Order: sequence, then structure tokens, then C-alpha cells
Amino acid sequence: MIEWKKSEALDEAMKKLLESLLEVREYLEEITPFNGEILTPAREKQLKGILLSHGLPSAIRQDPSILKDNPYFRDIRLDQVRSPSVWYEKAVIKKRTVLNTDFLRPVGTYLLHEHPLGYFDEDLEIPVLKEKGKVWMSPVVSEIQSMDDGVKKGWGRCMTMGLGLGFLPYLWLLKDEVKSVTVVERNPHVIELFNTYIRPQFPPEKELTILCGDALDYYNEPFLSQFDYSYVDFWESTEDGLAAYIKLQEKKVLAPRVDFWIEDAILQDVKHVVALYLLNHYRGGRIADFIAGQEGLMQTVAKKANRFFKSRQDVLSTEEELLFLLHDKETLRALLSLTR
Ligand SMILES: C[S@@+](CC[C@H](N)C(=O)[O-])C[C@H]1O[C@@H](n2cnc3c(N)ncnc32)[C@H](O)[C@@H]1O
Repeated sequence: MIEWKKSEALDEAMKKLLESLLEVREYLEEITPFNGEILTPAREKQLKGILLSHGLPSAIRQDPSILKDNPYFRDIRLDQVRSPSVWYEKAVIKKRTVLNTDFLRPVGTYLLHEHPLGYFDEDLEIPVLKEKGKVWMSPVVSEIQSMDDGVKKGWGRCMTMGLGLGFLPYLWLLKDEVKSVTVVERNPHVIELFNTYIRPQFPPEKELTILCGDALDYYNEPFLSQFDYSYVDFWESTEDGLAAYIKLQEKKVLAPRVDFWIEDAILQDVKHVVALYLLNHYRGGRIADFIAGQEGLMQTVAKKANRFFKSRQDVLSTEEELLFLLHDKETLRALLSLTR
């Protein structure tokens, strides 16, 4: 089991860790009411004040070119899409409406993070595919921003899991350094819709292969090793993302050239539980009570944290060592991969 070599410096680090957890809660409570609101100048001043008080970026007005100059957005028409269950509708992001512009981004050394919010200073049309009247898929701002890194890193033979509207495959195929794109998609209707309406608008000279199957079945070393870069993106948000991400890590696959969509945001929930676990252990609290106090998937993470820290022999004596356990991606992935 990990042990602590307690000191004033470590007491201070634990205090900062707890404060960052409390600050996150306060910050979220303060900004949530703004989401979806049409921002008056007075409310904008208030929102900026909140962001500044937490040391977060307060430039919330967005440049419409994020959408307008995005090649997928500019080139691909979805207005012909009409199947028995999925159809196109035009939606408008109203001028000055506050929206999420990205998934959360870690900030600073502890657990404070930013939930980027922003607005456009003009009405902007966006395509939406609806399924039985409910939004099914749409290339929204937060998706465009959150996939940017994956777009940039793509080269050679690329692979992604989750076809959706083919946003990432399209942006990859436009890059000279990308030779081919392979996609694993579970839903044959998504593939059919893509092949009928969207694929004809893709550059025909480059190889695009779509495999119909479950991402988890394809997530293995022999398959992944065929590609220069892979990007796993078959979840909708951090909620279903954490469950899927845990299943992937439990496969204990060596995947050095693989990235996961919104991984930082997914890991934030994991870090939260790990932080509470470490705080509890540092103070000599009962681990069983701590685990029992967690709910659902968070309890699964708490149990994994317990297995992981029980199996370690580290003696922790510095803030750096604490922060490493909390933030190191390989450590967190190893923790989540434990099944018993
Ligand atoms: C968020 S969308 C992906 C967006 C896509 N990256 C793009 O660029 O447009 C998620 C996609 O994953 C697919 N999907 C969900 N679970 C899956 C699984 N287990 N295996 C493969 N595909 C899956 C869904 O049908 C959907 O098409």
C-alpha cells in the first residue's frame, strides 16, 4: 500500500488539493446558469468577472470563422439527408447565445479546469440531423474544437473508431500527409447514410475503408499496429465516454499511437475520485466507507483506485509525487485497467 511521509509541505499540498475540488464546484455552480442564455452586456460583465475571479480566460466572444472556415462545414452539404428515421434540419445559433465551445480543459497544477463558454456576435446557421425529432448528430462548435488535436496529428495510414458524420475522416483526407483512412463503425444505418449522402462529396482519389463492427472487438494490438495514427471516438460525451474508456483500458492493449477523443475531460472525473481517495487515505479515513460513499461508475473507479494503490509500495513525501499520481496519464490508464 502507498505510504505517506507526512510533512508541512505535504499538508499544504493536500489542503490545496481539497481547495481546488471546492473551487471547481463553486465555479460550476456560478457558470452553469449562463449556458443557453442570450447574453446582455450586463450579464457578460458578470460572467467575465466570475471567470477572472477563478483566473480563467475571459475572452468569450468567438470568431465565427471557427465554423465558417472549417472545411467540413464549408464543403459538405447535409441538406439532402432524408431516411425514414433520420432527416436534415437547419438550426440557428442565435447571436450572443452562450454555448459550450469545447470540452473541459485542465488549468493549473491541481484540479481546477475550464469549461469553455462563448458566444458569436451574429446568427449562425448549422446543419442538424434529427432522429425522430431529436438532435442525432451535428458538427457543433465543441466537437470541432475538441477534435482539432486529432485532426492535426493524423498522418500516413489513419484509423478512427466511430464514423458519425465523417467529420474527422474528411479533415484527415484533405491532408497531403494522410495516405488512407479506415473507420470502424458499429451501426450499419450510419454507414448507409454516410455512403449515400456524404461519401460522394469526399475526395475520391484517397482510400477510405469502412469496417462494420464493434470498436471493442477491433481494439487489439494486431489491428492497431497497421496504422500510423488512430483516434478513438465512439462516445457522445464524458458520461458514456468514461464507461467506454474504462472498457478499452481493461483490454490492456499497448497502444502508443492512439489518442482518445476528450480524454482530458473523461479523466477529470477519474482524477476527482483519485483525489478524494488520496485525501481520505492521508487523513487515515476508512477506505471501505469511502468506496461505499461513491455511486455508480464513480464507485467502480474508487474500487480500481483502491486495488491500484494497495498494490503500490511508494512512500509519498512531496507535492510533485502527489501531483504525478493525480495527473500522469499512464498511471491513470493503468489504474483503470485493473479488473481484480
Ligand atoms: C460521436 S460520433 C463520432 C463522430 C465522428 N468522429 C465524426 O468525425 O463525425 C459516434 C459514432 O460512434 C458509433 N459507435 C457507437 N458505439 C460504437 C461501438 N461500440 N463501435 C463502433 N462504433 C460505435 C456511433 O454509431 C456513431 O456513429
